[in-house]
Amino acid sequence: MPVTVVVGAQWGDEGKAKVIDLLSKEHGYVVRYQGGHNAGHTVVVGDERYALQLIPSGILYDHVVPVIANGVVVDMITLFNEIDTIERRGHSCERLIVSSHAHLIFPWHMAWDALNEAARGDAKIGTTLKGIGPAYADRARRVGIRAGEVLAPAAFATAIRERGDAENDALIAAGGAPLDIEAIVTQYSTLGARLAPHIGDTVSVLHDALAAGQHLLLEGAQATFLDLDHGTYPFVTSSNPTAGGACTGTGLGPRDLNRIVGITKAYTTRVGAGPFPTELLDATGDRLVEIGREFGTVTGRRRRPGWVDCVMLRQAVRLNSLTEIALTKLDVLDTFDTVKVCTGYKANGAMLANYPDRAEVLAEVEPVYTELPGWNRPVTGAREPGELPAEASAFVALIEAEVGVPIRVVGVGAERDGYLLWS
Ligand code: GDP
Ligand code: IMO
Ligand code: MG
Repeated sequence: MPVTVVVGAQWGDEGKAKVIDLLSKEHGYVVRYQGGHNAGHTVVVGDERYALQLIPSGILYDHVVPVIANGVVVDMITLFNEIDTIERRGHSCERLIVSSHAHLIFPWHMAWDALNEAARGDAKIGTTLKGIGPAYADRARRVGIRAGEVLAPAAFATAIRERGDAENDALIAAGGAPLDIEAIVTQYSTLGARLAPHIGDTVSVLHDALAAGQHLLLEGAQATFLDLDHGTYPFVTSSNPTAGGACTGTGLGPRDLNRIVGITKAYTTRVGAGPFPTELLDATGDRLVEIGREFGTVTGRRRRPGWVDCVMLRQAVRLNSLTEIALTKLDVLDTFDTVKVCTGYKANGAMLANYPDRAEVLAEVEPVYTELPGWNRPVTGAREPGELPAEASAFVALIEAEVGVPIRVVGVGAERDGYLLWS
């Protein structure tokens, strides 16, 4: 398939990076299309654990050209720390291409993220405080500074100084601490000089690669229900992780997308605030967190746990045109006596036909579950569907039937080869 999109089907951390790493074998380009260093994408290779925030997860393969496309907001400090770490571990990042249209994150974006969260009092979003929302807000206000501007160093320095002075005045007026703008101009000019050789016209690069018969893998960060338009607003991120965002975020057209893979865990997690119908606030939830090691890669926060939710997944199929699902972390359920699958929602005693479009309704729905017997033995060694315990197969089959698109990959361990092809 020439163009494959990988998109989170829940609230993030579904194991997208592991699936991207797996699919990277068949793709020449791996492209981040939205989000920024709020993402934490983990790939485990033997004893090595790579936690990637901005660099596309295909970086671990020499044949892959990693691309940061126009829809991404780029924090240069994180980017170069990440490049240095990856290069120390033996993978060159020289071939990385960054879109001239990608917007840059500056220290005032982080300052605003913190101030905005503080101003929300008890209604905090629980952002990653990386400045992602303020950077996208500046893009929408048309005052952002784009990556391509580093190619004209003097003008870049002037743009930082002018923007920085204006932001500083506004920050001080809002009760924030002043920033040292001249220090920022110096530091970011140096970073810009380092970014310059990576800047490219990624729209042309990607279309030319397609025309040359290359296969492209578009890597979503965050997830469907964190989507600015379709997620649980305002408890969302500020970009469009859904498949439409892969078009606007890369400049590939809708008809270029062939295969759209939605990633879901065998249960659900969410980090940050917002409605979560199948959330488990009990000891069962604690076990999911403990066994699944559900602590954020980026912020270290405990992720909120719950059962898998097929109402959400059916909505994810609609919103993304999912052609298939990858179901990860089946092994985390190995020791549960019974496992639950949410197959519907009730509101005011009546079944809902569709995923509710109002967060107030979502916050009140009562999940309807099918409870299945657990399998009580490890699935980690399984490499074929026939090697799964019958109870585990029944669990996967129920999710597949409820969601209505084929499950292709089933994750049975964090390791690179910890998966089987279900269909
Ligand atoms: P992403 O943000 O969607 O890429 O996911 P994260 O990397 O934030 O979180 C997923 C976590 O689950 C990582 O620690 C992965 O190493 C791990 N993981 C992925 N697939 C599996 C799996 O099938 N089984 C287990 N046990 N861990 C997995
Ligand atoms: P990956 O790509 C899980 C959440 C934050 C918060 C909300 C808004 O690893 O799946 P932001 O900093 O984006 O303004 O925060 O979105 N969030 C994520 N949750 N996985 C992520 O990325 C996330 N990126 C942002 O916790 O609730
Ligand atoms: Mg993550």
